[in-house]
Amino acid sequence: MGRRATPLVAGNWKMFKGPSETASFCAALAARLHALDGVAVAVCPPYVSLTKAVHALVGARIAVFAQNAHWQETGAFTGEVSPGMLLDAGVAGAIVGHSERRRLFGDTDETVARRAVHALEAGLEAIACVGELEAEREGGLTEDVLRRQVGAIAAEVGSHERLTLAYEPVWAIGTGRTATPGQAQEAHAFIRSLLDVPILYGGSVKPDNAAELMAQPDVDGALVGGASLDVESFAAICERACSRS
Ligand code: PGA
Repeated sequence: MGRRATPLVAGNWKMFKGPSETASFCAALAARLHALDGVAVAVCPPYVSLTKAVHALVGARIAVFAQNAHWQETGAFTGEVSPGMLLDAGVAGAIVGHSERRRLFGDTDETVARRAVHALEAGLEAIACVGELEAEREGGLTEDVLRRQVGAIAAEVGSHERLTLAYEPVWAIGTGRTATPGQAQEAHAFIRSLLDVPILYGGSVKPDNAAELMAQPDVDGALVGGASLDVESFAAICERACSRS
């Protein structure tokens, strides 16, 4: 397993772009990327915009992922969406365990692992996020945190052909403080020693740092937040990934 044949660049839109904006954005992105080869691309819109993205991207080689998925198929879980519902809507995969879900909405190592397992069992791809807080890095705890977070996923899932991890140091998310290529490589190599699946880097990836990050031997692509909201910036990052393969 280990590496991807082609790198993956996924755009995590977070709580941006409703259905109307999604349709025009996806049409523009598909047109901009139609000749691009050698990179897999995904967009991750908010739930209400997923079907718009799916329809706007018919015929384009751009997958649509959700930003989360529940661990049961149906039930009294107000505000949640299940993997089967996502598949029914034409969605190919889901992010699970993003640090914003962990920090702001109570996801734990255990619920993240359950979300990942069920997404994979239902037939979705899963991008499971891990990463340390700034204080944890400064306290020399980065490897302990990654061992705990990856270990919880590995214990439930093991390696799986549709599982991707994303290393997203929390101090680099939305801050403009990207991990250095060396820091990213070191963390990715450590994660790969725990679970040998493709690993994306996330945290302030921009067109001008994407090539160097994705050139690292254990970096298999990028999970892009802010820069994925603009067609030109996101397309430029996808191009940088493709020159890596
Ligand atoms: P950012 O977000 O690129 O805006 O730092 C990355 C993420 O949270 O996935």
